[in-house]
Amino acid sequence: MKAVLQDEYGGAEVLQVGETENPVPGKHQVVVKVAATSVNRADIIQREGNYNQPPGDSPILGLEVAGVVDELGAGVMGFKTGERVMCLVGGGGYAEYASAYASHLMKIPKSMSFEQAACVSETYITAYLNVFTIACLKDGETVLLHGGGGGVNTSAIQLCKTLMPDVTVLVTASTGKTDRVRALGADHVIDYKTEDFAEAVRTFTSKKGVDIILDHIGGKYLTQNLKSLAVGGRLVIIGLMGGAKSEINLAPLMVKRQQILGSVLRSRPVDEKTRITEEFSQNVLPLFAEGHIKPLIHQVLSLEEVAEAHRIMEASAHFGKIVLTL
Ligand SMILES: NC(=O)c1ccc[n+]([C@@H]2O[C@H](COP(=O)([O-])OP(=O)(O)OC[C@H]3O[C@@H](n4cnc5c(N)ncnc54)[C@H](OP(=O)(O)O)[C@@H]3O)[C@@H](O)[C@H]2O)c1
Repeated sequence: MKAVLQDEYGGAEVLQVGETENPVPGKHQVVVKVAATSVNRADIIQREGNYNQPPGDSPILGLEVAGVVDELGAGVMGFKTGERVMCLVGGGGYAEYASAYASHLMKIPKSMSFEQAACVSETYITAYLNVFTIACLKDGETVLLHGGGGGVNTSAIQLCKTLMPDVTVLVTASTGKTDRVRALGADHVIDYKTEDFAEAVRTFTSKKGVDIILDHIGGKYLTQNLKSLAVGGRLVIIGLMGGAKSEINLAPLMVKRQQILGSVLRSRPVDEKTRITEEFSQNVLPLFAEGHIKPLIHQVLSLEEVAEAHRIMEASAHFGKIVLTL
């Protein structure tokens, strides 16, 4: 089959489309004939050699796919070949065929294209899992989302405003993206290039702070994040774009009864991802089917243009998702 391969770690230029063996479905797995996949920030980190696939998963890049069921492994029930599905994969999305656990599949609503469906599994599930399940956002609370132009955070804005309309959503974004973030539904947008976001949060919330922060910057933002968090607030760290280390003063954390939580989706056990997918299917999938939420696609490129897709993401020139089609 055709797949994106790399002989060495490095820049986008190491990505080449070549031929490799087709995946074989294991027990409780299916093989999906991939119609579209999308680019995630983690793909870049993996390409550079800093984020290996979990044991047993494909070393090929790509964490989410949309396509049709091509082959069923032993013990698979509830799906038939030819059915349109979207799913999480531990790796292997940038290829003509990808294997996935049947329990991680979601049927694509009729109203959605493969390109749109390729943006759901990793991106929206990450946003939903961290904001709603882990941080336990409640209606009426206030949330701060960093990097509002990215895949996960455009999804998080949509989910917050659709599932809980009384949540107040503050978003940081770079200068050229603030208007588009506001148009997506953010209640207050902070230009992180020109403003101190912790000061802006204090002013907007009349010194109270926000109840939840979804953060992918890590070390560089830890002190400011804790300053921005209300009494009883929850900070969920899902990425380390600003480094993995930081020194903080624990006294305010204790006095303000704040929680710092960390999470990754990819390396969770199969059963956990099954439960997460089931909860997402029940609570969020109908919103796509009924057209209340539409994935925001920045650009659709072919698999052969994968290096260009990575360059766009590395330059942060995108707003929403970059899709690769086969
Ligand atoms: N733990 C998990 O389970 C999990 C799962 C999926 C993703 N992630 C992580 O979530 C993050 C987002 O992933 P993604 O695929 O959505 O990537 P993405 O589309 O590239 O989004 C990242 C965004 O971060 C923004 N950004 C960069 N520096 C910033 C700063 N100092 N302050 C605020 N925003 C900044 C950029 O926006 P601007 O243009 O405004 O700079 C960019 O749009 C990544 O770190 C990824 O590894 C974690």
